[in-house]
Amino acid sequence: MNPASVTALNVDEIRKQFPVLNRKVNGKPLIYFDNAATSQKPISVIEALAEYYRNYNANIHRGIHTLAEEATKAYEHTREQARAFINAASPREIIFVRGVTEGINLVAASYGRAFLRNNDEVIISGLEHHSNIVPWQLICGQTGAKLKVIPVSESGEIDLEAFTRLLSSRTRIVAVNHASNSLGTINPIKEIIRLAHGAGAVVLIDGAQAGAHLPIDVQELDCDFYCLSSHKMYGPTGTGILYGKSHLLEKMPPYQGGGEMIKEVTFEKTTWNDLPYKFEAGTPNIADVIAFGKAMEFIRQTGRDVIEQHEQALLRYATEKVGSLPGVRLIGTAPQKVSVLSFVVDGIHPFDVGQLLDARGIAVRTGHHCTQPLMDRYGIEGTVRASFAVYNTFAEVDALTEGVRRVINFMR
Ligand code: ALA
Repeated sequence: MNPASVTALNVDEIRKQFPVLNRKVNGKPLIYFDNAATSQKPISVIEALAEYYRNYNANIHRGIHTLAEEATKAYEHTREQARAFINAASPREIIFVRGVTEGINLVAASYGRAFLRNNDEVIISGLEHHSNIVPWQLICGQTGAKLKVIPVSESGEIDLEAFTRLLSSRTRIVAVNHASNSLGTINPIKEIIRLAHGAGAVVLIDGAQAGAHLPIDVQELDCDFYCLSSHKMYGPTGTGILYGKSHLLEKMPPYQGGGEMIKEVTFEKTTWNDLPYKFEAGTPNIADVIAFGKAMEFIRQTGRDVIEQHEQALLRYATEKVGSLPGVRLIGTAPQKVSVLSFVVDGIHPFDVGQLLDARGIAVRTGHHCTQPLMDRYGIEGTVRASFAVYNTFAEVDALTEGVRRVINFMR
């Protein structure tokens, strides 16, 4: 069966919305398979950025003039879109940050500093990106809390039994990703959240690799914090959201001081602004936030279920094709994955595979993918990672398969 027939998506129409897909790289049509690092942007997002600067550039929440009001309205509209996107109870629970990295640092620094004590415990998993490891190491170093790590199985799945054993009355925070950036594994976060709450801990979910691929309902999940990066969701770089339950955000101290986050300042004492502004010091990234709204609109209009179905079909096809090449070993074979295919080729360095694919116009990521402990778990330096988005095609997967086959023949 032609694999294209299993997906309901009109990929040609989608591709027309992404101008970069028309370009050539090294004389070949670009095949962009580095979507887990950052996705490409549709025209609606690119236009929204230009439109803000062309027509209504102004600072927000401060001015009473027309431009300031227009910019404020557009910025706050994105907050409402983000609320709806993850089904948060209130826009007060949506804080704009630079991305997932800043979201996690905010929680570690603010919640962690306020509530972690000597010998308390923070649990993360062996699947985490450095951005969900290092902020916890920093705060543990400052508070005397201990960092515990849930082991990962050979297929790249979190060991839930081991997690249950790690939980104790000392556990204060559990921080795991919704989906692994290196392997694609979709984690059983609902179960993890339930177990962690049973031990009295709060849970932060790193949603960087979920935002563009999976439905997210923070109320149904009952997570305490959830982070998203716009640029992995067809939106601009430099923005994203931290969701937090309002009763937790209320009791957390500010992360950064400055304008906007205050109610009243004297030299003796300052009082904090209401949520979410308490956590949004300084002039924010107004243009990118507004364009992020267009990216969420693109995902909603295309249909998250349609996107997921298309990407899963691509993943199955690529797993079968690339995975059956001689000498290729897939890293990460969990039954539930987002559209990430990570592999190594016997005797060939991932970097060489990536460079030779680039010569054919194919963009993949190679290396440790900011998950060095996970690579250590497999005893490898890194992988070649192809990650698929809504605009990728089965013909492109064929080109990847042929590219890897030629690399193997060339290097052997
Ligand atoms: N976290 C991004 C990746 O996995 C940069 O490539």
